[in-house]
Amino acid sequence: MNIAIIGLGYVGLPLALQFARSGAIVLGLDVDEAKVKAINDGRSYIRQIDSGVIAGEVKAGRFSASTDFSRIKDVDALIICVPTPLNAHREPDLSYIVNTGKSLAPHMRKGVLVVLESTTYPGTTEEDLRAVLELGSGLKAGVDFHLAFSPEREDPGNPDSKIALIPKVIGGFTPACLERAKALYGMAVKTLVPVSSCRVAEAAKLTENIFRSVNIALVNELKVIYSAMGIDVWEVIEAAKTKPFGYMPFYPGPGLGGHCIPIDPFYLTWKAREFVQSTRFIELAGEINTAMPDYVVAQAAAALNAAKKPVNGSSILILGLAYKAEVDDDRESPSYVLMNLFKERGAEVSYHDPYLPVIRPTREHSHWAGTRSVAWDEATLKKFDLVVIATRHQSVNYNELAKWSACIVDTRNAMASVQTRPGQVYKA
Ligand SMILES: NC(=O)c1ccc[n+]([C@@H]2O[C@H](COP(=O)([O-])OP(=O)(O)OC[C@H]3O[C@@H](n4cnc5c(N)ncnc54)[C@H](O)[C@@H]3O)[C@@H](O)[C@H]2O)c1
Repeated sequence: MNIAIIGLGYVGLPLALQFARSGAIVLGLDVDEAKVKAINDGRSYIRQIDSGVIAGEVKAGRFSASTDFSRIKDVDALIICVPTPLNAHREPDLSYIVNTGKSLAPHMRKGVLVVLESTTYPGTTEEDLRAVLELGSGLKAGVDFHLAFSPEREDPGNPDSKIALIPKVIGGFTPACLERAKALYGMAVKTLVPVSSCRVAEAAKLTENIFRSVNIALVNELKVIYSAMGIDVWEVIEAAKTKPFGYMPFYPGPGLGGHCIPIDPFYLTWKAREFVQSTRFIELAGEINTAMPDYVVAQAAAALNAAKKPVNGSSILILGLAYKAEVDDDRESPSYVLMNLFKERGAEVSYHDPYLPVIRPTREHSHWAGTRSVAWDEATLKKFDLVVIATRHQSVNYNELAKWSACIVDTRNAMASVQTRPGQVYKA
């Protein structure tokens, strides 16, 4: 089986390796020349993926990468894993999918299978992607080529998450498309979950992520309510989760981050408008989660106030730039929102993250580009008036933090099992 995977990011690269491991010959395509070169050199650019694993597959001749889309003319299946962000008006930005479709279409041969994996609203595969592919190739979906949608279920930072063992939802444009897609994924994934259409598969992915967004909003709201009552929400969750049925723990935090939970729900709210449907629950969850950084800043101001210090002029360290523990991914990270809010209030802001030594240039955070993670030592830490724990990386030594820092705002319950002084740690 010859496969091309388009988009070699957090989703596409592990998927490519899984197919290569399963015996497929995988061609990775990306517009980013640096990624293509890294793969062909056997080098990883994602923390959780070992360079040796890439090098092994490249050496065995099962994996190579290119920017040349004309090379797809010999492959049996094309799997698209490109970004699906929101635009400046917080509306779905399908341009990556559309551009990928435009690049692939002229080189598509009869009988090829095209699968979209990018998270998106119901209808994208059958309407938007199909239209560009048919227009550019002159081929008809379901007749001349097969078309399917199968969402990715990556759990970044979780070492037990193995693509092969995560059940894979698949929807086909026609029953024959579904059968082809099942045959493809069956070689690399243990459990397949076929559904009746691409739309159902697209909706299943959005449902999973909206479920998370709504439940995180709920615990974030409970955190604020219980805090006013002098109750620690983390202790409450530990107790509640001992119920063996009907409860699933979600944890509060400084706000939502990553490429999925803050974005995907709004793919559905946008599409729902076309059907004159309101999406109050989803919007409310978004509102509560978006307000979390303000709550953290208010708690930080109270903590500084107790030490007779204003935010203005204080020196504040954000501990953790990644949006979740154990990853080097800072997309949509609430740490940036916190940094901006503190800076606007006149604080001097720094960050420490063992996995992100320097802030890369991005459109959203260009003013932080080039800022470096400060060193982790007593002299450096002692200089800060306040440390805000935004991400709970395991490799950070929280005992040292307790020894070196006078005032800590903890949004992740990282200090729970650490010996601290009275009045030293504020939960937020
Ligand atoms: N990261 C996750 O944990 C995760 C989990 C589930 C689903 N998803 C979804 O998977 C999709 C991809 O996410 P990701 O995290 O891998 O993104 P990413 O930004 O890490 O990777 C996307 C890759 O696509 C490449 N690319 C962009 N335009 C291209 C084009 N026209 N042709 C070829 N390559 C192109 C980029 O250079 C990049 O390497 C998104 O829809 C996302 O919502 C992500």
